[in-house]
Amino acid sequence: MTSPVSRRKFLFNWLVIAGLGSIGTALTWIFGNVWTAASRFSSGSWVQISPMNRFAPGTLTPFPEHKIAVIRSSRRIGAIGLECTHLGCLLNVVDQGFFCPCHGSEFGPLGQVYSGPATDPLPWHEVTERDGRLWVHIGEKLTRSSWLEIREPGPDQTTRHKA
Ligand code: FES
Repeated sequence: MTSPVSRRKFLFNWLVIAGLGSIGTALTWIFGNVWTAASRFSSGSWVQISPMNRFAPGTLTPFPEHKIAVIRSSRRIGAIGLECTHLGCLLNVVDQGFFCPCHGSEFGPLGQVYSGPATDPLPWHEVTERDGRLWVHIGEKLTRSSWLEIREPGPDQTTRHKA
């Protein structure tokens, strides 16, 4: 037969173990959610670029901090990667498109290769509009153009179009 003292001790130990288990479960849940939330906003995710009305039709606007350039036509907007497809140098935006200062590759305004040594066109990035601002999916490079169509009268009404 067990004594009342050892029963109390057993109960105390059981409560301590159960409490530690509950704390461990809660911490696991909290850190799991923090980790998941952090990954949603990592470099592989969407980046807010600028208000949509900043981009006038017919412009090519570089954002070297994000390694992209925003191209705006009369009714569409898109984002092209600014890393040279030869060896990855950051491209300059020039009148006719893009120029690589490292080895002289030239690209057209839609990322097409005009002259090497680069042989591959520039990648595109998916874009979207939210609350009047342009967002670009930085982490994923697309091998074909991806436009967001802009409907009149303003940039609030947009539809997706992949060419
Ligand atoms: S890195 Fe651009 S041409 Fe070589």
